[in-house]
This record gives sequence, structure tokens and C-alpha cells, in this order.
Amino acid sequence: MIFFFNGSEPLFPLPFFQGEQPEDFTRGMPVEFVAGCTWFMVAAHGYDTQHFESVHGRRLHAPLVVDCPSPFARRSQYRADVLGEAYYDRVLRRFAGRTVEISITTWGGTLVLITGKFARAISRFMIALQPLEDATTRCQVIVFTKRSGNPLARYLFQPAGLRVRRLFTGAYLIAEAKGLGAPRYNPSGLIEADREMIEYFHWAAALPAGSFESQDTAS
Ligand SMILES: [Fe+2]
Repeated sequence: MIFFFNGSEPLFPLPFFQGEQPEDFTRGMPVEFVAGCTWFMVAAHGYDTQHFESVHGRRLHAPLVVDCPSPFARRSQYRADVLGEAYYDRVLRRFAGRTVEISITTWGGTLVLITGKFARAISRFMIALQPLEDATTRCQVIVFTKRSGNPLARYLFQPAGLRVRRLFTGAYLIAEAKGLGAPRYNPSGLIEADREMIEYFHWAAALPAGSFESQDTAS
């Protein structure tokens, strides 16, 4: 995958997981699917308190904690019980842990970095959102795992481990995209329980537009 910034100067470097160095990690092949909604609706999931239990089977212990670790990044964090009955949730409960601490950081609106810390495992993945012309979004999901210091493990076991992470993460996200269909932005349908999502929409709307658009507007 090649990342590029839509402007003459990038507003921020290509992000990675907080406190980690890319050279310490290896990644899987991207999983790709098309979500039936705009990029800002896909990224809004990270701030949609109600959908974590209804769609993902995650019961939050407390309200979302939201902050902006950088001028162009917005982060949502929560701790939750894993309640889902999908096969990947049952495997997670059995082998990784019954609760998870999640961190979702949205960079510039279209790059999302997610970390899930279980008692016995850590899941890390990036979602790159590419807006398509029909108001849908190509979602490319890349899973990461720490590079093993043991060369034998690196060549024999890590590829299989990455395939499992890719399978589980892709299944989790594709099931959501199918289940949600084509949600549209409808501010009149938002209620007080959607406060964090409303704040996210304000933040996304205030992000600077690309330089090409600025030039078009100025001309
Ligand atoms: Fe979601």
C-alpha cells in the first residue's frame, strides 16, 4: 500500500500506534471491503456509544473517554466486556480474555488506528478509508503484530498468527458493514446519548480541506 497526502505539505506524518515504532512490527496483507456509507460515517462508529453493544457485543464499563492527542487526531477509549456470540468473540473470550481496553484514534478523518488490549493478547490494526464516488467507502484493514526476536518463530509461526488476526479482524468489521447497510448522516436523528458522535462530526467538519479544494474555492 502507498499512502499519500492530498496537498503540497502533509499536515502530520503517517501515524502509527502510540508509543510504538513501525520497525518493531510486521503486518498482514490488507483485508478490503466496501462500506455502504461515506468515510465520515465509517469513522463515526468509533464515537457511537450505542452501537458497541448492539453491533459488536461489547458492554462498556463506563462512558467513552474522548480526547485529541494531536491537532489532527481524535481518540476514543473504553473498557468493555466481550459479550458477542460470533465465533471470533467466543475464541477471544477463551484465549485472549473476557474484557478488552480499546483505543480508536482517527487521524485526519480517514486513517484509523485501533488497539485492543486483552488480558493475554493485544490486537492492533489500521483502517484506511478511501471515499468512493457513490458515497461509499473502500476500507482497507491492515493487522500488525510485534516482530518476534526469534528468527525461527518469525518465519514459521508469525505468518500463521497474522493470518488468524487478519481473519478475525476482517470478520468483525465486515459483519458490522453488512449489518449496518447504508447509514446516512441525519443530524435530526441524533439524541443526547449520541453526544460523542455529534462532537466527532463537528471535529471532522472543521478539518482542513485539501489544497486542491482550497484552490478551487479561491478561484
Ligand atoms: Fe463499529
